Amino acid sequence: MDRFKGKTARPSPFTTGPPMEHSIALVTGTTSGLGYATARLLAIEGYRQVIVTGRTLARVQETAAQLATETKTQVFTPLELDLDAPTSVQSALAELVRLGRPIDFLLLNAGVIPGKKRVLTAAGIEAAQAPLIGHHQLTVGLLRANLLSPNARIVIAGSESARGDVPLFSYTDVAALAATKYQGDRSAAVEALVRSGPSVKYEPNRAYADAKIVVAWWAAALARRLPPGMAVYAVSPGSTPDTKGLRNAGPALKWLMVPLVKLIPGMSHTPETAAHRYLQASEFGTDVSGQFFASAPKKLTGPIEAMRQPHFLDRANQEAAWQAIVKVSGNDLSWP
Ligand SMILES: NC(=O)c1ccc[n+]([C@@H]2O[C@H](COP(=O)([O-])OP(=O)(O)OC[C@H]3O[C@@H](n4cnc5c(N)ncnc54)[C@H](OP(=O)(O)O)[C@@H]3O)[C@@H](O)[C@H]2O)c1
Repeated sequence: MDRFKGKTARPSPFTTGPPMEHSIALVTGTTSGLGYATARLLAIEGYRQVIVTGRTLARVQETAAQLATETKTQVFTPLELDLDAPTSVQSALAELVRLGRPIDFLLLNAGVIPGKKRVLTAAGIEAAQAPLIGHHQLTVGLLRANLLSPNARIVIAGSESARGDVPLFSYTDVAALAATKYQGDRSAAVEALVRSGPSVKYEPNRAYADAKIVVAWWAAALARRLPPGMAVYAVSPGSTPDTKGLRNAGPALKWLMVPLVKLIPGMSHTPETAAHRYLQASEFGTDVSGQFFASAPKKLTGPIEAMRQPHFLDRANQEAAWQAIVKVSGNDLSWP
């Protein structure tokens, strides 16, 4: 795997080399958990500017102030971004255009494990799928505005739960759903998942796994559309119970599986370790662009590797997912 070549001054997050220069990162979902931990780590690693986002300006201003105090740096720029609301994404993009600085590392971290009750956004998108739609709108907007640097790295949060080998998490077979309900149209089947439409029986853990499969497909499809120097990866931060990610989770996950996972050595790790995974991926080469990196099969922590399960690699599903997201988001990647 080639190391990131665009910035020769960039040290590995696992070394203590000199801080890099002229690097700008944007991290979504920083008001808690892994987004917060990664923003903190980026400052420590020497990023010159870390744009941190949260649903409301007041909350993300608080986050930025707390990060500045903790890291004793002044590199944080708060930005309001509610990924459920296209108007909020547009306002955030307008602000980024006003700031006018190309981003080197775009970390699309925000995500949610949905609750027992099916929740749809005002735009009719299932809650676990909504961050990807907002992230797509943001990424396309940044590319169109030429606000990603020529060697930019894009990382989007995936999850081991999408693999099919994690207890309590199963996923939908999109080809089968397309065959039975949509005359073989896989794009319509992915759209049904994104909207949690009438043909989809809602179950929260399955909705989460499905959302993270669509994330992996989106990364694969986006990789084929990026300019040559840029790269995108889906990356699971790994099992990290000490975040707010479980706030909506059902009792089996919250009170049974996660406490068990915390007790068994090697089944979970800290937010800092998880954040290192994102930074590690930010230095991967273009040769592995589009791949989904996570813990080894049947594991939830440890070194990350490219996932080879056939459902992630199915090109027809990847392209169907791209088309569905373009349709639902209203944003395609056409160059000016
Ligand atoms: N923790 C784990 O074990 C684990 C494992 C695999 C993958 N992941 C993934 O890692 C990412 C971070 O999770 P976490 O564990 O750090 O959870 P967390 O503590 O709940 O943090 C999630 C962050 O995302 C934000 N967010 C969620 N939906 C949003 C939306 N529609 N618009 C704007 N902001 C939104 C949240 O803001 P609000 O508080 O305002 O909602 C919060 O800042 C997620 O994508 C998650 O699926 C986590």
